[in-house]
Amino acid sequence: MPKPDQRNALEVGERVYLREPTSRDAAQIVALNRASRTFHRGWVMPPTDSGTFVTWMRRCRQPNVKCFLVCRLADGAIVGVFTLSQIVLGMFHSAYLGYYAERPHDGQGYMTEGMGLVLRHAFTRMTLHRVEANVQPENAASIALVKRSGFRLEGFSPRYLKVAGRWRDHQRWAILIDEWRRLRPRPRVPSRDRGRRAPPGSSSPGRPRSG
Ligand SMILES: CC(C)(COP(=O)(O)OP(=O)(O)OC[C@H]1O[C@@H](n2cnc3c(N)ncnc32)[C@H](O)[C@@H]1OP(=O)(O)O)[C@@H](O)C(=O)NCCC(=O)NCCS
Repeated sequence: MPKPDQRNALEVGERVYLREPTSRDAAQIVALNRASRTFHRGWVMPPTDSGTFVTWMRRCRQPNVKCFLVCRLADGAIVGVFTLSQIVLGMFHSAYLGYYAERPHDGQGYMTEGMGLVLRHAFTRMTLHRVEANVQPENAASIALVKRSGFRLEGFSPRYLKVAGRWRDHQRWAILIDEWRRLRPRPRVPSRDRGRRAPPGSSSPGRPRSG
């Protein structure tokens, strides 16, 4: 198991941190994706051999793509992957988000925390305005993840994306920067101060919830 290497961390949360993948991650990611084959089937098609890993790394290095590994702070284990793709700036400042957990690390809250960190990175460091996630209507775990992360259902697109050789219906979920900002916990105001107007410049922006 690799040691946690927070020197390369893009964002750090309570139990996980984000970093970019490197070619040194090949063996671990391929092994995790092979062990997660049944879990991923029909939803995502991540690299499961050295050839597809090289293709994926090449994609991650494109200027309009950013890949994130979700790593556990305790031991550096890779627990999930997020990819922002088709990043368009200009009048859009928008991107598509794809993701998957790695077995046996799913269902423990790591992806929820990782999603919070990805959104923080997207809306602060990357200055995006909008992030969209396309989810198949039958994918209950993914719908639960986007819902609890503050995404809003924008629409339904029949036969929208070709996944595992089939054109599949998708729901389109999105979150805007101002919606994400509103997820931040409000600073607590002591009861005696409630109703008083705060002096100019005294508002605390607080920290965004990490999921
Ligand atoms: C979709 C997917 C990424 C969701 O990941 P996940 O493992 O459910 O997400 P989390 O790690 O955040 O786990 C959340 C669950 O852990 C639970 N949990 C356990 N300990 C927790 C903790 N300390 N903090 C928060 N949640 C915790 C939550 O209650 C939640 O369970 P629930 O949904 O039954 O309420 C995952 O199911 C997956 O990879 N699926 C296959 C690929 C896929 O579908 N990708 C998306 C394509 S659109």
